[in-house]
Amino acid sequence: MKDAIDIVVISDMHLSRARPFFQFNWEMTVERLCEKPPALVLVIGDIALDGSHHPDDLAFAKAQLDRLPCPWLNVPGNHDVGNNLPDIRGEATINAERLSTYRDIVGADYWHHDIGQWRFIGINSLLCGSGLPEEEEQRQFLQAAISTGENRQLATLYHKPFCHGAWDEAPIGQHFWFPEARQLLLPYLEAGQIDLQISGHLHESRLKVIEGVPNLWIPSLSFSTDMTFDWRPNLFNGRRRVGLTEMQIAGARWSAKTVEPMELLNTDISGWMKGGSLSTYSKFAGERPFAGFTHPGTTAE
Ligand SMILES: [Fe+2]
Repeated sequence: MKDAIDIVVISDMHLSRARPFFQFNWEMTVERLCEKPPALVLVIGDIALDGSHHPDDLAFAKAQLDRLPCPWLNVPGNHDVGNNLPDIRGEATINAERLSTYRDIVGADYWHHDIGQWRFIGINSLLCGSGLPEEEEQRQFLQAAISTGENRQLATLYHKPFCHGAWDEAPIGQHFWFPEARQLLLPYLEAGQIDLQISGHLHESRLKVIEGVPNLWIPSLSFSTDMTFDWRPNLFNGRRRVGLTEMQIAGARWSAKTVEPMELLNTDISGWMKGGSLSTYSKFAGERPFAGFTHPGTTAE
């Protein structure tokens, strides 16, 4: 596109100083972005391996993002601030302490950013249903961000995808926004005020127009789960490979291309997850340190 502005969108890096399982893909991504810096990097959450229990994972992830050759903005994921309520997955959940830790270490959990003709509005989707005072503050922020951005194209970003295929669909596990939480955005979607929705979380990439609004799913940079569909059904019709999404905006137009650079490692954590619960993930991500493992900057607990 003529006079296009380059933006790169990444998600789900799951970084950790003490448990650097996925650091290689991050190093390759930093190299790639330094070779051809975009104007902006948008990050869609789960920057940390297990930030809910280990703030150092968040501190490390923040330091890694600061290596990027351009400005970046992140919306938190469930592995950064805890899962949204009501939790049906057995995860650590969002609370005042986790939210404040995230804000202290990483920065704002909701924000808007104007670039070209576009306004990107980042939303903390884990706040929805929390009952924390910040949930109402975010609602008011969103209202203001949309009304003052009425002359712009608006894209909303959140870790968990808004829905699978319809705005009024029933919950599918806890993979998407719960129906009650969708009320936050529905008035603006129904009024045609949102031009694009961007999300991560599923570790699957997909582009699908839902009720007239394109929904862009950003792939994970760290791992996929059951790439070969041996045991986890292909429920969402996304693509289970690691990668990143290169966007361009020009005036009111946009385009996006998800790329899977050949140097990235497609780690499949099926072995961790096959038991059907998150407990195995927690074993790998949550119990530390490794016996005999030290890393510069790691403090043994
Ligand atoms: Fe993730």
